[in-house]
Amino acid sequence: MSKAVITLNQAQVIYSSKSEEVSAISEIDLTIQKGEFICLVGPSGCGKSTLLKLMAGFLKPTSGEVRMNGQIIEGPDWKKGVVFQSPTLYPWLNVRKNIEYGLKVRKIEKERRKIEVDSFLEQINMTDSEGRYPFELSGGMRQRVAMARSMVNHPELLLMDEPFGALDALTRVQMQGLIREIWQKNHQSIFLITHDIEEALSLGTRVLVMSKAPGQIIESIPVHYSQEALANGSNMVKVDDSFIYLKESILQKICQ
Ligand SMILES: Nc1ncnc2c1ncn2[C@@H]1O[C@H](COP(=O)(O)OP(=O)(O)OP(=O)(O)O)[C@@H](O)[C@H]1O
Ligand SMILES: [Mg+2]
Repeated sequence: MSKAVITLNQAQVIYSSKSEEVSAISEIDLTIQKGEFICLVGPSGCGKSTLLKLMAGFLKPTSGEVRMNGQIIEGPDWKKGVVFQSPTLYPWLNVRKNIEYGLKVRKIEKERRKIEVDSFLEQINMTDSEGRYPFELSGGMRQRVAMARSMVNHPELLLMDEPFGALDALTRVQMQGLIREIWQKNHQSIFLITHDIEEALSLGTRVLVMSKAPGQIIESIPVHYSQEALANGSNMVKVDDSFIYLKESILQKICQ
């Protein structure tokens, strides 16, 4: 039976400053089930990152509720991993130590830490680079380390805000293949924001479309392209007529 990991109930965010009030997201109802890979698309400034920050616990709703496993989210913790567009690694720690950092903070014992870090170094294909420092890595490598650093804690929910937005096209496809494999292997729920509709269709089990600000979820579309690619052992999805149709119809909704 499916299990709700995240539940938003009429969650609304209004940013207030001395001079103005910005209504970032309207009352949103949303449930994310365990194991879902949700991709969110929508126009710039419609409130996508605001929605992610609610789930991460960086922000509280102005009204309504945001719950994880039935409990109101009170703040960030390791059960919610977050990966941003610009990876924030510790420059003074090498790759291995960056990945290990969260486990150390959580006082996980040394042998267990080694097993976990070794496993994720392998999953991101960086076993040979474990001794390098962030300044010695390419953008794609840094983003892989940032992903591993979140994943190593086995978060129940991985939140990603345009994680591949700054990467070149080839690295991007490789990273998409990697996140698909990581998702298949680790069975966590993923919520990924992207401005790229093809990326959303290629990765998600469900694509959410947000309206312009104040954002509302206007479409929720189950998709199967990523699971098919995994089943076929392929790094890329098969683009058929239904894929192109969905891409066009989502684009129209975003531009409305
Ligand atoms: N801390 C803040 N204080 C005031 N207004 C904010 C704050 N953060 C975001 N906003 C405003 O809230 C609205 C939604 O912003 P948000 O960053 O959630 O949009 P987004 O959909 O992620 O945009 P993009 O696609 O450009 O990243 C925007 O009008 C933005 O200016
Ligand atoms: Mg954003």
